[in-house]
Amino acid sequence: MRQVKTLGLLGTGVIGGGWAARAMHFGIDVIAADVKPEMEEWIRGSVASAEPALASLTTAPLPPKGKLTFTTDLNAMARQVDFIQENIPEQLELKQRILAQVSQHAPADVIIASSTSGLMPSDLQRDMLHPERLIVGHPFNPVYLLPLVELVAGTKTAAASIEAAAEFYTYIGMHALRVRKEVPGHLTDRLQEALWREILHMVNEGVATTRELDESIIYGPGLRWAAMGTNQIYHLAGGEPGMRHMLHQFGPCLKWPWTKLEAPELTDELIDRMVEGTAEQAGGRSIRELERLRDGYLVAVQQVLKQFDIGAGATLKALESRLYDEAAARAAKTPVDPNQPLRLFDTTVRAEWVDYNSHMSDFRYPQIFGDAVDTLFRQIGIDTAYRDAGYSPYTVEMKISYLAEVVQSDALYVTTQVLGADAKRFWLYHRMHRVCDDKLVATAEHIMLHVDAKAKKSVPMPADVQAKLFAIRERHAALPRPADAGRGLSLDKR
Ligand SMILES: NC(=O)c1ccc[n+]([C@@H]2O[C@H](COP(=O)([O-])OP(=O)(O)OC[C@H]3O[C@@H](n4cnc5c(N)ncnc54)[C@H](O)[C@@H]3O)[C@@H](O)[C@H]2O)c1
Repeated sequence: MRQVKTLGLLGTGVIGGGWAARAMHFGIDVIAADVKPEMEEWIRGSVASAEPALASLTTAPLPPKGKLTFTTDLNAMARQVDFIQENIPEQLELKQRILAQVSQHAPADVIIASSTSGLMPSDLQRDMLHPERLIVGHPFNPVYLLPLVELVAGTKTAAASIEAAAEFYTYIGMHALRVRKEVPGHLTDRLQEALWREILHMVNEGVATTRELDESIIYGPGLRWAAMGTNQIYHLAGGEPGMRHMLHQFGPCLKWPWTKLEAPELTDELIDRMVEGTAEQAGGRSIRELERLRDGYLVAVQQVLKQFDIGAGATLKALESRLYDEAAARAAKTPVDPNQPLRLFDTTVRAEWVDYNSHMSDFRYPQIFGDAVDTLFRQIGIDTAYRDAGYSPYTVEMKISYLAEVVQSDALYVTTQVLGADAKRFWLYHRMHRVCDDKLVATAEHIMLHVDAKAKKSVPMPADVQAKLFAIRERHAALPRPADAGRGLSLDKR
């Protein structure tokens, strides 16, 4: 399939806005199409409000942010994009009609994915031109933070379309779950609906309030579910013998049964109880406030899970590893004069990096210099596999000099000079320049120590890594030594 540089969105409501924010964050341009012109303002606001949470998800080097354009001409959008994600209302006939229309305009190799929560892909592709490129790509709100996307094929869908879509979704940081068989509600909504039905029954029968039912999840199963699903957790519930014992012990309950298959009637009284209960839980906080709270903890949870390389944390870890690899590959493509400091890292100052003085925030400098160091590591053989084996250089000292203002959208590059190195340590000197005029805007120094992370002690680097590092050190020894190298802090005139 074609490389996705531009994503087309069909329908720009809650879900369309989430797709736009996620795709743009990872460098994909977006053409958003909606029948209502007023949705342009809405989607721009929605992308802006997703930005703070997305920006805090990872500090790995990102490509320049994608651009957003808006149109009410669905067919024009379809002609210009590499992948289409449909997010119009959940009505089968409307989706069938619009998908058929748009398929007449999108080139044959453009995948068309539907965000449908429960409709079947075989029904959606019925009237389309090239129905083999229709898939269901079902995301979860907020699309910009939750990595899950369910991929479902219809009877006419080509296997290659599923694989191509999975590749694109993975590229924008998602976990592509391939659903084996199309069923109404796919996998997740079917599971969610079972829980939802029980909630409605218990509120209806006065068994519990909405708050109590939410507490029954968030203090217990909800915490487990973030990293282990019901099946793995029940395997643990069976003790040493695992799932077999669990089924033996709790199997009879399934016959009683505890749960009900039909949802209760949505009477006015039940609707009132649900609305009043959730309003009481909100405690006067607006939807926006609650969204910010939700976004903040969703980011924090994924970062914690990353430490355990599990669930959504494993997805984040893999994404970051790829982003670092790509940054290293971009640097490797830049022609290098071996007798000059190495140009290791290029970046552009993103809107979310700027502080209240309209300058790049202080803490972004160590991040950028750190990304340059990471690129150097990869060039000398210290990559993800190396770190996974338990070895890594640790920073033991760092100094930064801020020399000139850096503002939003400034393109920057970093060069690195190896001032010293032995079997266990190295001393690096970095210069950060503005691309447009080569102005030196900051310098930094790192002293690093090579560590066996499991043994928690410093150890020599392997001979091949040392050889590559020492070769750079020898070439850089001939370069002029930076005047301020090794200088401590002082109030003396500089
Ligand atoms: N909201 C969720 O939590 C959620 C989660 C996952 C999937 N989905 C699915 O995503 C889809 C969209 O849901 P939503 O919540 O974003 O809905 P929404 O009502 O917020 O947005 C739908 C948008 O589609 C636009 N639209 C209507 N007709 C159109 C047409 N003919 N052409 C172009 N645009 C048109 C509307 O103007 C609106 O902006 C649905 O299929 C839904 O099942 C929703």
